[in-house]
Amino acid sequence: MNATAGEHRRHYLPGMGHHRLLPLYDPLSRLLGVTAIHRPLVEQAAVRPGQRLLEIGCGTGNLALLAARLHPRAEVTGLDPDPRALARARRKAARRGTPVHWDRGFAQDLPYPDATFDRVLSSLMLHHLEADDKVAALREARRVLRPGGTLHVVDLAGAGARPRGLVARLAHRRPRLHATFEDRIPALLEEAGFVDPVEVDRRVHLFGPCAYHRAATPMV
Ligand SMILES: C[S@@+](CC[C@H](N)C(=O)[O-])C[C@H]1O[C@@H](n2cnc3c(N)ncnc32)[C@H](O)[C@@H]1O
Repeated sequence: MNATAGEHRRHYLPGMGHHRLLPLYDPLSRLLGVTAIHRPLVEQAAVRPGQRLLEIGCGTGNLALLAARLHPRAEVTGLDPDPRALARARRKAARRGTPVHWDRGFAQDLPYPDATFDRVLSSLMLHHLEADDKVAALREARRVLRPGGTLHVVDLAGAGARPRGLVARLAHRRPRLHATFEDRIPALLEEAGFVDPVEVDRRVHLFGPCAYHRAATPMV
């Protein structure tokens, strides 16, 4: 499943804020504990054998690879607009022999039919999007989820106009990124048509405070 050529012309903010910094993404993620936020999200998703899981904004693939390792009988897909990040993800998957589908595309225009997945995961991706695109991305997540499927989001959190934490301050200095630091995720989830949005957990890391959210698609 591939994104269309038109989608590739869209602007996006890469993992470290700049393409040249991408080689630092994995070492810094390990150093600052970014990878440690992934396991609780996979556990929260309670994936069952045979289910289909999508990570939107998978970057270099750490979360999708962990999900595939912990749930070898699930079908895992990682999607990101950044071809360099996807190339890294593909190399890691090949080295580890972990089967994951990698697709290039944008969260706000997912290249999948309605009701394709049982679980959608998003880790540190929403704060890369403009306000309108956040809602568009969440609407798309709802569209590709099956009735009763669930979305699981971990992202930077905390009140205040200025981001706190090392990575938040150094790598993400653009004003539009501050919007998700204001605890708006439950409201955005409702606006996108999800039901029962809940904050599942909140943890403070070296790179900043993070909140975990879960929401469900309506049963039809
Ligand atoms: C901070 S990285 C997080 C990567 C990974 N999810 C993790 O937890 O390590 C944010 C990612 O969001 C991706 N991204 C930016 N805009 C996007 C969009 N419109 N749709 C999907 N992903 C996007 C970036 O390319 C980057 O890989």
